Amino acid sequence: METKKLGSSDLHVTVVGLGAWQFGTERWGYGQDFTKDDVLDAIRVSLDHGVNWIDTAEVYGNGRSEELIREALGDRIKEVIIATKVAGTHARAEEVKRALEGSLKRLQRDWVDLLQFHWPNHYVPVEETMRALEDLVQEGKVRYIGISNFNGPLMRIAREALQDGNLLVSNQVRYSLLDRSIEKEIYPTARELNISIIAYSPLAQGLLTGKYDRDHLPEDPIRKDHPLFQEPNLSRALRIVEVLKALAEKYGRTPAQVALRWLIQRDGVVVIPGAKNARQAEQNAGAMGWSLSVEDWNRLEEVSQGEITYFVG
Ligand SMILES: NC(=O)c1ccc[n+]([C@@H]2O[C@H](COP(=O)([O-])OP(=O)(O)OC[C@H]3O[C@@H](n4cnc5c(N)ncnc54)[C@H](OP(=O)(O)O)[C@@H]3O)[C@@H](O)[C@H]2O)c1
Repeated sequence: METKKLGSSDLHVTVVGLGAWQFGTERWGYGQDFTKDDVLDAIRVSLDHGVNWIDTAEVYGNGRSEELIREALGDRIKEVIIATKVAGTHARAEEVKRALEGSLKRLQRDWVDLLQFHWPNHYVPVEETMRALEDLVQEGKVRYIGISNFNGPLMRIAREALQDGNLLVSNQVRYSLLDRSIEKEIYPTARELNISIIAYSPLAQGLLTGKYDRDHLPEDPIRKDHPLFQEPNLSRALRIVEVLKALAEKYGRTPAQVALRWLIQRDGVVVIPGAKNARQAEQNAGAMGWSLSVEDWNRLEEVSQGEITYFVG
């Protein structure tokens, strides 16, 4: 399978991981447009199609995401690379440790492979949080440390706070053909520090799959009023989707697979598309194991130039 190492670790993750925010999250339509069985199938099908890691968080479905992962995998969970996250509101040392205990209990594991600090906390010094994460590595409960939604300067501070800076292996940030804002500062800093980028919302929350247009937009509370699905972002997205559709036809793939492929072919980037069912999970895993030509990759590079008109995170 196609893998990349996270930072300077020995964690060889497949270039496509499975994003698990949707699991157990009603605001994504859990229990309405997709069910618990859909989630269990999505997890198993991902692994059957070569995906070797799952990205979850203590806050996803208020812990239900981690429980569903455990339920889907049973004891097989020990063979899978698990990345979870401590909420940004749990930044104090004792809160970090308590949060991990909760995750380990729900996952029924003694350790996680990657523990990420979910978003910066501007009231607690990042040094305190990072040292607490490093303590958990010393205790054998965490293999590597990640951050999420950190800008360039904060990435440096986080790394410097650790006794062993090489333990910090990833920054998880929003990155897609529609939102390339990390390329200005975060991506170059990550390359310099040898920190991998874990690209979240790589399909722009479904918009880049080609199934949405002006007459058909998602209705769930997460996306209903989201600026991604409004002008001027929507028109820009639909222009990109036209090119994705043409390339999908050329390669015998889907627009979603082409959109993921464009990210994967960048150095130091892996993707974690979210999936609500087995069909989506299988399709997303199918972004592995083939390549866009340099010419086609550049075509997407050109058509996706431009700014996203909001910033969250
Ligand atoms: N660190 C952070 O702050 C943060 C923030 C956001 C996300 N994340 C992580 O990143 C993961 C992915 O991000 P995301 O969920 O925001 O966005 P995404 O992966 O860009 O989009 C996921 C949504 O797109 C649709 N979809 C996925 N695969 C599809 C396919 N092959 N064909 C058609 N539709 C498909 C599904 O929704 P519909 O079928 O309803 O359209 C799915 O819920 C999350 O699960 C989470 O693990 C992290």
